Amino acid sequence: MRERRILATGVGGIGGCNFINALRLAERQTGERFFIVGTDFNQYHILFAPVDVRVRSPRHSDPGFIKLLLSLCEKHGLEFIHPHPSVEARVVAENAELFRERGIRLFLPRPEEIAPTKSYMACRLREHGVPSPKTVEIGSWSDIEQGFRELGSPLWIRAKRGAGGRLGLKVGSAEEARLWIKLNVMQGRARLNDFILQEYLPGRDLAYDSLWYEGRLVAYYCRERLEYPFKHISLSGITGTPTIARTINHPEACEIGRRAVEALSTRPHGFYSVDMKENAEGKPMVTEVDGKWHTTAPLWGYAFAKTLGNPAYNLAYIYIKLGYSEEPGLNEKLTFPPDYYLVRQLDAGVLLVHGDKHWRIM
Ligand SMILES: Nc1ncnc2c1ncn2[C@@H]1O[C@H](COP(=O)(O)OP(=O)(O)O)[C@@H](O)[C@H]1O
Ligand SMILES: [Mg+2]
Repeated sequence: MRERRILATGVGGIGGCNFINALRLAERQTGERFFIVGTDFNQYHILFAPVDVRVRSPRHSDPGFIKLLLSLCEKHGLEFIHPHPSVEARVVAENAELFRERGIRLFLPRPEEIAPTKSYMACRLREHGVPSPKTVEIGSWSDIEQGFRELGSPLWIRAKRGAGGRLGLKVGSAEEARLWIKLNVMQGRARLNDFILQEYLPGRDLAYDSLWYEGRLVAYYCRERLEYPFKHISLSGITGTPTIARTINHPEACEIGRRAVEALSTRPHGFYSVDMKENAEGKPMVTEVDGKWHTTAPLWGYAFAKTLGNPAYNLAYIYIKLGYSEEPGLNEKLTFPPDYYLVRQLDAGVLLVHGDKHWRIM
């Protein structure tokens, strides 16, 4: 079979590396061959991903970023571009036409669907009647007291932009919220109006991952995050990507996740992630929707494809096939079986655990 020639960006990140590893597994399981040029900003992290050619890129905000990607496509005769980190995906989506007119395929949401602000999404979700936490924007210092009067206490304060729980913290009073903002403003991380206050959600930490093609849902699954790495040495306890998570059978969360994606996009196309936290009554409330890959989504696909010996579970591989306008060969919507635990630890590897059985994935 002819090889597929792909450009992948951000391959040094954990998510990017998971994506490339999943494609390498697909090669072993299907006999297909991928020639992959991988870029990353970080000179050390770029060494991790098993790509054919490694190229350091400037940051996504640098005018040279898109130029470099176009020149790599030309130099290596590449046919498809997969920008993995959402900030890079957004810039590529904004410049999609430059790639398309050179015959390079993309499979991305519209740029405004990638990394939308939390305040914009809170409005969209409310308009669409999707359960989400009550939100107060902070435009002046007095809005903080107003937020506590309106929403009660404790609250969750967070930055409107960014990922991985950026500048998020549970705050028990207006004074705590003020001090948190003050410190972050003083140290140059944010401005006052970068923050919002939201109702604090004490329940389970859930995620919904989904792959869509021209408005049609192709694959989805729901999981519960059980443990974050180094939570004891972080103020919020949220450190981006979990070390322990499990697949769950939760039709209501899947339904809310699907509706959240449809609140963001009228015609979802590409990969979309939703985060939910349960309120005190156990109802999932959407805290984030984004046309991006969750860090572990390609790793879950890898783990199931490897353990169950079936490349149809490999989300990264299905995504590439769809991106090449090929039928992924799924009889029905793909989902993962419940009660499988993905256990990861820095330097220790990755395990898939189900009942009293476990498999070493990496
Ligand atoms: N209102 C909230 N109450 C409690 N925890 C929250 C709340 N909003 C977010 N979190 C926690 O912070 C994590 C990150 O927030 P999320 O909405 O996914 O945005 P991002 O990942 O872009 O920072 C969530 O997975 C959840 O654990
Ligand atoms: Mg999130």
